[in-house]
Amino acid sequence: MASVAKLVGAQEVEFDARLADLKKPALEAATLPPEAYWSPELYQREIDAIFFKEWICVGRVEDVPNAGDFVTHEIATESLIIVRDHEDQICVHHNVCRHRGCQIVEGSGNTPAFKCPYHGWMYGLGGDLRGAPEFRHTENFDKKDYPLISAQVEIWEGFIMVNLDPEATPFAPRVSEMSRFGIERYGMSNHVTTHRWHFRLNCNWKEWMENSIEEYHIPWVHTETFQAVSPMKGWVEFPDITDQPWIVMVGQFPGFSYSDTGDPLFPVTPETADLAPEHSGMPIWVSYPSMGVLNSVDTTVYYVLLPDGPDHCHLRLGLAVAKESAEALARGDDPALQASHEEYVRNIDSFLAEDNKISEQQHRGMRSRHAKPGRFSKHEILAWKFDTWVAERAYS
Ligand code: FES
Ligand SMILES: [Fe+2]
Repeated sequence: MASVAKLVGAQEVEFDARLADLKKPALEAATLPPEAYWSPELYQREIDAIFFKEWICVGRVEDVPNAGDFVTHEIATESLIIVRDHEDQICVHHNVCRHRGCQIVEGSGNTPAFKCPYHGWMYGLGGDLRGAPEFRHTENFDKKDYPLISAQVEIWEGFIMVNLDPEATPFAPRVSEMSRFGIERYGMSNHVTTHRWHFRLNCNWKEWMENSIEEYHIPWVHTETFQAVSPMKGWVEFPDITDQPWIVMVGQFPGFSYSDTGDPLFPVTPETADLAPEHSGMPIWVSYPSMGVLNSVDTTVYYVLLPDGPDHCHLRLGLAVAKESAEALARGDDPALQASHEEYVRNIDSFLAEDNKISEQQHRGMRSRHAKPGRFSKHEILAWKFDTWVAERAYS
């Protein structure tokens, strides 16, 4: 492999040597070199080695509740169609016509079939080619040979997980040890998304990811929000809990919720009632590379980061509540529940604004010619662990 020092050109940095410093034990290690947050060459390695190889969350099953419902989603250059077919299966197809490559659909909707806008080729929801106008004169042409290219898909706890690598092994076994902390008890499969956020941020995807798995910033960034209910010293990181590609940190605040007081305003998931206090105060689970789930006793908040070039990323989040509460919210006949929901959304808005702002500010600093690798505190061990995983996957 070509040396990375050459790949980043004019800066003539010794990237490989800097990576060796990252790979020391966390409290002796240097942070990821700044060029990892802006180099187009390193970005492309991340896309090829991570985003085209790993399991990526592209939404929730409730995003496509009925047969024919579809949404589109991008993973770097790849546009995907996520659709529920007539057998109630969720399929994921590359959004590329098999005739001459046109993108077939945009946005979301409901359709009985997908018709390419260029020359009218028609595909079933399962991706089979059903119509190719004027092709009876074309020799040796069989529609069976030209279905949409599908990607691997797996449903886990209500999340739609996709892998663009046909050789990838299944997702669920990769996170099986999450059961050790009782992740199933938070009732996520029964939760339905009631509010969604989407930001296109001016930062590298790893900057926001690191922020989400270290509590060191809480007293300075979240002075107006989190600090009151979950100060830095109340969090516990579990760096050695598993060799699987996920991590968890837990705020030690029994019964944590997103209300103004911290008391849950939605019905508490019954299975969490007897959770040990150290497990009930909002664990943040991160499945590599870029999916996070924040469990509290009455809601699920989840996020997915997808890179959009080295200097930008898409951050999508959802707030989900138990199905019964979601149905009541949809009916709109319970003003108290509606007000609680607005309170949760408002509070999540506030801490997101703080995290987004600081991540963009960090990126502007990382862009400086004078940015250099730094060091990790004991409150950033998971960020170190995540960075070493990225480095091993993409840079070595
Ligand atoms: S490119 Fe789709 S029908 Fe021609
Ligand atoms: Fe934060």
